[in-house]
Amino acid sequence: MQHDGLGDMHNPSLLPVALFDSGMGGLTVLKALAKCLPAEDMIYLGDTARLPYGTKGRDTIIRYTLKAAGKLVDMGVKMLVVACNTATAAALPTIRDHFAPLPVLGVVEPGAMAAASASRNGQIVVIATEATIAGGAYQQAIARIRPEARVLGRACTLFVPLAEEGWMKGPIVEGIARRYLKHIFTPPVTALRPDTLLLGCTHFPLLLHALQRVVGPHVRIIDSAATTAQCVKEELTWRALLRDAGHSGISRFLTTDNCARFARTGSLFLGRPLKPDEVDLIDL
Ligand code: DGL
Repeated sequence: MQHDGLGDMHNPSLLPVALFDSGMGGLTVLKALAKCLPAEDMIYLGDTARLPYGTKGRDTIIRYTLKAAGKLVDMGVKMLVVACNTATAAALPTIRDHFAPLPVLGVVEPGAMAAASASRNGQIVVIATEATIAGGAYQQAIARIRPEARVLGRACTLFVPLAEEGWMKGPIVEGIARRYLKHIFTPPVTALRPDTLLLGCTHFPLLLHALQRVVGPHVRIIDSAATTAQCVKEELTWRALLRDAGHSGISRFLTTDNCARFARTGSLFLGRPLKPDEVDLIDL
């Protein structure tokens, strides 16, 4: 994707939207965004060399996220979407301060909004990485929107490598999911059963089918991709930064390690073939 520097300076709406994740999970957000805003160009960066972020300390996550965001911002973008819950939970305020006035959107608030409105009985389970759960970002975000909701957080660390490996279903995936979740969704008869499972990690939508089998058909499984895409659209509209509808959006993919692997597994997340020559290797 070539940008005419001068033209872009005079018309920032022509610049791409940047998305960032520790790996390929954020591609689930890119997919939703491309559907919602087909005219927008996008640059996606997956920091696969440093994945996983979810088991790392807060300061490390902030440092990595600042580095990655800086790289994207230097390329000339009109908006940054932190398409990683772990990075959003740890680093969103820092990123916003650092790159102001660039609009920066995370995935936690949109995910919390989606779950808070989907749940009928207010019993919500959020699954995410260790860092996201420990920081309590989802619990706090849902409490702001729906104070009476009861939110239970559960770290599901092994789901990230399963998704990155492209293991989406089958007895091993379901066995691990059962170990993490079964007791939560089969409470004693006196207790209220959770009716909503919020996927608080952008890698987890890949495991949707297996998760639904484990928690049962009556539980609504929600992720932040579609709501985030809607929030991006609103923000770009409000700032008059939407691209002309006549344009056909192009996506460019960057990774910090192994383009061939990114293309192979990324195809599963995107739901369309991704060729290795669509992916560029960068260093942070
Ligand atoms: N995709 C990231 C998220 O949404 C987590 C993956 C990781 O642990 O790096 O939290």
